[in-house]
Amino acid sequence: MQSILKVQEVETRFGENLVHDGINLHVKEGEIYGFLGPSGCGKSTLMREVIMLEHFSKGSIELLGHKLENIKAKQAQELRLQWGVLFQSNALFTSLTVFENIALSLHEYTKFSKEMIRDIVSFKLDIVGLKQSDGALFPSQISGGMKKKAALARALVMDPKVLFLDEPTSGLDPISAREFDALIMNLRDLLNLSVVMVTHDLTSITTTLDRMAVIDNKKIVAEGSLEEVLKIQSPFIERFFKMEG
Ligand SMILES: Nc1ncnc2c1ncn2[C@@H]1O[C@H](COP(=O)(O)OP(=O)(O)OP(=O)(O)O)[C@@H](O)[C@H]1O
Ligand SMILES: [Mg+2]
Repeated sequence: MQSILKVQEVETRFGENLVHDGINLHVKEGEIYGFLGPSGCGKSTLMREVIMLEHFSKGSIELLGHKLENIKAKQAQELRLQWGVLFQSNALFTSLTVFENIALSLHEYTKFSKEMIRDIVSFKLDIVGLKQSDGALFPSQISGGMKKKAALARALVMDPKVLFLDEPTSGLDPISAREFDALIMNLRDLLNLSVVMVTHDLTSITTTLDRMAVIDNKKIVAEGSLEEVLKIQSPFIERFFKMEG
């Protein structure tokens, strides 16, 4: 299967602080892939580098066939339309309704008619499990679980090939979190997505991830399926999985 993301020997430095010291991983098309590791090990930073919100100091990142270290502005813009991102904070615009939040990129990047935009937004509301009437509500009027779904619908509005999720189930109650896991798996199948997520939710890890990379002490200490990762001797892996029994 084809790789959609290749990270090779990536080094990240913030002044004196070396965060990544030669990170290597690859994500295959169609898989749900996790970035794992202790707090502060650089999971979010790595994801931000992949979506071009942060620079890396050395190495190479290739996303959907584009090497990010020497990408031109026009290609970067095209690439940005091929992924969707769900930030931990959701980052919904509070002054816009759920419908308007989802429709935003369609107004910005397409010349679709009002009717077409309405139909697309309506479909996205549907696939994430929101009611059509939820579209009229403002973010302040909906629950945490609904906010996640609205932000997910917005991330999917341009029909991305890849979906990036940073801690998608954190802050959700256990039932909503499991519902969200199931939603991500369904959408992967329905929309032929590849999914890259940062998570420390053990249930999400065991039920949704096809493969994962564990970062510890600035390097990848394990990459593979859960079964493969559990065989690796690493203090983080031992503590993390033992803790939950
Ligand atoms: N823009 C920045 N400038 C300086 N240092 C940064 C910047 N972004 C991240 N860092 C540092 O990089 C390190 C990794 O941060 P990051 O947020 O990626 O960790 P994380 O693995 O996502 O942690 P958590 O699980 O707590 O979210 C931290 O030491 C952080 O202070
Ligand atoms: Mg983080």
